Amino acid sequence: MERILLTGGAGFIGSHTLVELLERGYRVAVVDNLCNSCEEALARVREITGKDFDFYLADVRDRAAMDRIFSENKFDSVIHFAGLKAVGESCEIPLDYYDNNIYGTLVLLETMKKYNVKKIVFSSSATVYGTPEKLPLDESCKTGGTTNPYGSTKYYLEGILTDLYKSDPTWNVILLRYFNPVGAHKSGRIGEDPKGIPNNLMPYVAQVASGKLKKINVFGNDYPTPDGTGVRDYIHVVDLAAGHVAAIEKCVKSGVHIFNLGTGVGYSVLDMIHAFEKACGKKLPYEICGRRSGDIAACYACPDKAEKYLGWKAQFGIEEMCRDQWNWQSKNPNGYRD
Ligand code: NAD
Ligand code: UFG
Repeated sequence: MERILLTGGAGFIGSHTLVELLERGYRVAVVDNLCNSCEEALARVREITGKDFDFYLADVRDRAAMDRIFSENKFDSVIHFAGLKAVGESCEIPLDYYDNNIYGTLVLLETMKKYNVKKIVFSSSATVYGTPEKLPLDESCKTGGTTNPYGSTKYYLEGILTDLYKSDPTWNVILLRYFNPVGAHKSGRIGEDPKGIPNNLMPYVAQVASGKLKKINVFGNDYPTPDGTGVRDYIHVVDLAAGHVAAIEKCVKSGVHIFNLGTGVGYSVLDMIHAFEKACGKKLPYEICGRRSGDIAACYACPDKAEKYLGWKAQFGIEEMCRDQWNWQSKNPNGYRD
């Protein structure tokens, strides 16, 4: 069984991936500086799975710490989740984003190289497609034209990882372009725990449902979409986590392997609100507001490549996404602080 290091493994997607890996018997270690997460998430992963793993409280930019982690373990691969991800914040403090996401990845890659660990799964994003040249987006669509520093870090890092492979074709680089991860583990013990007022639609909707926020602001209803509101490819985080397991298992040869992880189905903001109303059994107040700057009208994946090469396909639909998001929100109205 491969021994895997998860950077950012205490975060939203990392903790769900940790569960899937542990349940399949992988030996896993986590490094996280907890800048956007907490150790309680890891305790709950242990509780859900009944399995243990090593946790290193460290920053991936800390060379000495990374050196120690790699010298104490014999990793076969790394899944690299660690990074900052708030689009708006990245416009205010771009240098922090470049430092954390780009410099942090460089330190990680240099350490991997030193210890001859050459398989990396990288958390990329549909944001690398910029304004979609066509829909659905497939992996051969042009990338670039990102509209914020966060998105640019993902685009540049894809380039850096590709250059690394070109310089040494024994590397195995797997770029997973996530669409919009939502939902939570079915246990309701782990989920997304945004600090402050959520930026993303679904945690915001969930907090309106729980009474923490008053009403949903719908950012624009004049897009060229069926109901005028923005369309996205929402994917259940447990499906996304399973995509990482498939990537680790199926991408055994060196190369640069690029996969969209999405469902292939686009839902509008109003579709999501109405599906959530069904899940929580309440009417949710919303107001149509102006567009949010930098938003695109529609974005959804062609997920065929992942199905063909990874044998992976999303299993959960909009109902399960809303049901599990509500289960997490209602059981943990204050996230991990409950
Ligand atoms: P998250 O913030 O919940 O998880 C990121 C984790 O990385 C956190 O636990 C944080 O404490 C840790 N971290 C950040 N900087 C670190 C550093 N320098 N050293 C060590 N740990 C550090 O975010 P998430 O939603 O789980 O996202 C995981 C990855 O997926 C990120 O790279 C993100 O950009 C990418 N991604 C997320 C989405 C999304 O909508 N959630 C979409 C596309 C891509
Ligand atoms: N929206 C609202 N009201 C809100 C929040 C969002 O109407 O309060 C709308 C947006 O305008 C958009 C849709 O809901 O049409 C989804 O917005 P999110 O903020 O949830 O997600 P985005 O598609 O904007 O961005 C997400 C991640 C990015 C990532 C991108 C592509 O936040 O990190 O998906 O993967 F880059």
